[in-house]
Amino acid sequence: MRKSVILISGVNGEIGHGLVRSLSGKGIQNIIGIDLSMADEFVLSRTQNCIIGNILDRNLLERINAEYEIEGIYHMAALLSTRAEFSPVIAHEVNVDGTLNLLDLAMEQAQSRGGSVKFFFPSSIAVYGLPSLEQKIKAGAIHEDDFRYPQTMYGCNKLYCESLGTYYSHYYKRLAAHDSKGLVDFRSIRFPGIISAQTLPAGGTSDYAPEMIHAAAKGEHYDCFVREDATIPFMTMSDAILAIDKLMTAPQEKLTKMVYNIRAFNPSAGEIFRIIKRYFPAADVNFVINDNRQGIIDSWPADVNDNLARKDWGWLPTHDFEKAFSEYLIPEIRSRYEHS
Ligand code: SER
Repeated sequence: MRKSVILISGVNGEIGHGLVRSLSGKGIQNIIGIDLSMADEFVLSRTQNCIIGNILDRNLLERINAEYEIEGIYHMAALLSTRAEFSPVIAHEVNVDGTLNLLDLAMEQAQSRGGSVKFFFPSSIAVYGLPSLEQKIKAGAIHEDDFRYPQTMYGCNKLYCESLGTYYSHYYKRLAAHDSKGLVDFRSIRFPGIISAQTLPAGGTSDYAPEMIHAAAKGEHYDCFVREDATIPFMTMSDAILAIDKLMTAPQEKLTKMVYNIRAFNPSAGEIFRIIKRYFPAADVNFVINDNRQGIIDSWPADVNDNLARKDWGWLPTHDFEKAFSEYLIPEIRSRYEHS
């Protein structure tokens, strides 16, 4: 008998950590992780097995396929938007080929189990591309089907993988004798920037918000690489995890889409700096604009419309901008740096 497990790719990353915390908190013990780097103690102590390996390694995935019965996949491994611009071909390989490999694993598993395998895919506001700052301001909160003209390799990768997920869920080998519809139960969220109290992101373009907060808490200077008026939606890591949990546990018949927008708050970089100042009056931030990274932020929406997520699976963030700081970020970040 193969062991029944939940697989998390990129388990050692930011959302990976959050997922491990939440799933293990619910008493789920059969988690296996895969990551390029050795998982840290937090992850190791809450998972059944953490494999050091690459999702591009088909032999490794074949071994995982043979050893485990996979109930669900949370595919978090990716190269984020800034890093992807430095190595677009590698980003494509990891973000697209890696996703294809895991979708294929999900399909093989579902076919051999004769039941569906849930697949969570974190998409991003990077799938959107607003042609100009004027259009961005004019567009306001945009719907899922608007402005899907990504300007980054990462955004292109995410948008295409949303389509791959839909293909695997609905149309996989549609000319074959056997119907595979629904075997892969693909569910995806287009995340805004995510701010975690526990970890820092690596290689993203929305990183200025978490970096500014963590630097202030550590008493370090920070050069913010976007203008004070730069605005995109953000949410707390705990709300991001809540959203994944809500979407993944929603009854399939309630879902009218495979890919949903969600939002919580959308402050400008200047507003983020001002709220940080309230809690850390000595916070020392200069706005030293990197025009290229600013250009990416200008192409992302100032806000998204998440009515469908609210209607279909009851999405509601816990933290608005004020609560994100007063109830989550400040208490947790303070205790983190006080104890380190
Ligand atoms: N936070 C991501 C990034 O900045 C976007 O999904 O790349």
